[in-house]
Amino acid sequence: MKVLIVGSGGREHAIAVSVAKSSQVDKIYCAPGNAGIGFVAECVDIGPMEFEKLADFAQEKEIDLTIIGMDDPLVGGIVDEFEKRGLRVFGPRKNAAIIEGSKAFSKDLMKKYHIPTASYENFTDPEKAIAYLESARMPIVLKADGLALGKGVLICQNLEEAKEGVKTLMLDKQFGDAGNEIVIEEFMTGREVSVLCYCDGTHIKPMTSAQDHKRAKDGDQGLNTGGMGTFSPSPFYTKEIEKFCEEKIYQPTMDAMKKEGRDFVGILFVGLMLTEDGPKVLEYNARFGDPEAQVVLVRMKNDIVDVMNACIDGTLDEVDLQFEDNAAVCVVLASDGYPEHYEKGKVITGFENFENKEGYYVFHAGTKKTESGIVTNGGRVLGVTAKGKTLQQARANAYEATEWIQFDNKYMRHDIGKAIDEA
Ligand code: AMP
Ligand code: GLY
Repeated sequence: MKVLIVGSGGREHAIAVSVAKSSQVDKIYCAPGNAGIGFVAECVDIGPMEFEKLADFAQEKEIDLTIIGMDDPLVGGIVDEFEKRGLRVFGPRKNAAIIEGSKAFSKDLMKKYHIPTASYENFTDPEKAIAYLESARMPIVLKADGLALGKGVLICQNLEEAKEGVKTLMLDKQFGDAGNEIVIEEFMTGREVSVLCYCDGTHIKPMTSAQDHKRAKDGDQGLNTGGMGTFSPSPFYTKEIEKFCEEKIYQPTMDAMKKEGRDFVGILFVGLMLTEDGPKVLEYNARFGDPEAQVVLVRMKNDIVDVMNACIDGTLDEVDLQFEDNAAVCVVLASDGYPEHYEKGKVITGFENFENKEGYYVFHAGTKKTESGIVTNGGRVLGVTAKGKTLQQARANAYEATEWIQFDNKYMRHDIGKAIDEA
């Protein structure tokens, strides 16, 4: 069969590597892809928001399954466009992807269906938001309602910062229309864990857990990024916590979406905070996490195409989802200066070190093939990933492999998975 993947990051590279393992697949295309994805798939120069062109391509090439990796096209309704043409596609429709596209929607959903989350209020009027803040407890969290590359969340320590935050989001519109509405939310403390789940509209199957590191610098300092590294599984996500989440969060979310007439098919990413009062939802995403996919998919035993087909067909309950009894760590190699200003176009060397190395992967995020070789083409450049028997071993392997790659202005965090030692 032929598969088309939509996206161009490390996540899509990890998906492509998983799909390539399937014995059913003989051709993979990726739009637009990147230099690394080009080793397993044929990259096609069509942008992720060009729904008609993508659907035309899928029809022309007789693609059997299209997998949407990214949030923007999902929230924009790419799945609806493909379905309209009778094309088989993996991902939520627009009316379900809103669970990621609107934080106000997802908070209201959780409130209505008693799914544990931080208490909150939604605001469309900046004056009312400020009036609310005057008597609110600090610290407090402000979130732009819409998509903002994971950066539309402001943690404010005091009233002054919070008022400034309302200005940034709602008046200065730092994240554009994403800030037309904001959520003001109680500040929670605890360990964070991400659980990605396969969903078929009725059934939901959580994958193994992972933890991201969102800040740019060691010790969780610096600006928020798309994610600087991950490990899987999280030792803090115990069997007991998992059971609680299955009963009180995952299945209730599935049922709530169905009751609302928004059957969710695809990947539901549940961002959790393990608080003293139990696990609470930080956020939902409607797709694999990046770089969570890199550590979760390499540990999945199932044929990903079988699982995705079961989601589309509503037969996920028949799938026995299995993960290897080991661990994986991904360290992102970034361009120094990310997420602000950084240079691109630096030649990257050392990829050959990963050849025939079982359990080691170099997933490309921002790379480009040029006449002088593969060069950096983004803030997050590569996701060096390694497996190991234990988390400690996986971390040692991943950091060892970061030394195999060279490029000017290479930057990484040195404490990915440091929390493992506290478990
Ligand atoms: P989100 O995009 O909603 O996951 O938020 C990005 C990051 O901000 C999360 O990974 C948390 O580290 C932090 N965050 C979000 N909401 C809260 C909250 N209510 N309390 C504490 N931290 C939060
Ligand atoms: N790593 C966080 C995300 O993909 O949203």
